[in-house]
Amino acid sequence: MAAHAGRLTAAVRIQGLTRSYGERVILDALDLEIPSGEFVALLGQSGSGKSTLLRALAGLDHDVVGTGLVEVPEQVSVVFQDARLLPWQRVLDNVVLGLDGAAGKGLASLEEVGLGGRERAWPNELSGGEQQRVALARSLVREPRLLLADEPFGALDALTRLKMHALLRRLYEQHRPAVLLVTHDVDEAIALADRVLVLQRGRIAAEQRLDGARSHSEIRAELLRALGVTGEPR
Ligand SMILES: Nc1ncnc2c1ncn2[C@@H]1O[C@H](COP(=O)(O)OP(=O)(O)OP(=O)(O)O)[C@@H](O)[C@H]1O
Ligand SMILES: [Mg+2]
Repeated sequence: MAAHAGRLTAAVRIQGLTRSYGERVILDALDLEIPSGEFVALLGQSGSGKSTLLRALAGLDHDVVGTGLVEVPEQVSVVFQDARLLPWQRVLDNVVLGLDGAAGKGLASLEEVGLGGRERAWPNELSGGEQQRVALARSLVREPRLLLADEPFGALDALTRLKMHALLRRLYEQHRPAVLLVTHDVDEAIALADRVLVLQRGRIAAEQRLDGARSHSEIRAELLRALGVTGEPR
């Protein structure tokens, strides 16, 4: 393999990333590459290390330094399960937090997530789904080349989740960041991603591409098998 193949077009390049807590190895010489503009979903059992991997990519895990190669673009945005808005800042101020002179862009981002006109609301005046849309606007306004999302819809009801899927997919198609979406939901992964990965025993243990070569139900069955789910759920 040419060492530099694809270097210009990779949004994420991880080689040999190891992360342990005490004696417990969570990520074990993990390799992962995500080309620019690819939408990847990451599945894995609870405790398999998905959030650990995301934190390493987000630069939020300082102890991970020196245990492998982690390359990400300059502009990375992160969305979590809870919107993490500052309650004492109005919606627009939350969106443009830390950015100078970005009010116009902030308003445009709010418009994009369907919250035009709500810029002066306080976070606690918004529903959970609306708060999560503010979090998406806040990530968008930074024009990320890589969007990291850790179960961003995990706390939402089923209908709101479906609406958020459509919104995220639309925003992705307009802005084309690379995306790494952590989810527990196999169907969410299949609905949204171009490629679905399964994290297991510290490595990417399975991969499925949504390229039309196989049906969603075949892919779903493969992913469930990789996750160790047997029988015929749902
Ligand atoms: N700060 C920490 N100190 C010690 N152990 C930790 C710490 N953070 C995470 N762990 C352990 O690392 C393992 C992986 O955690 P992580 O949060 O990455 O899992 P996850 O795949 O995101 O799980 P979930 O699906 O439940 O969110 C878990 O066993 C967890 O207990
Ligand atoms: Mg997690």
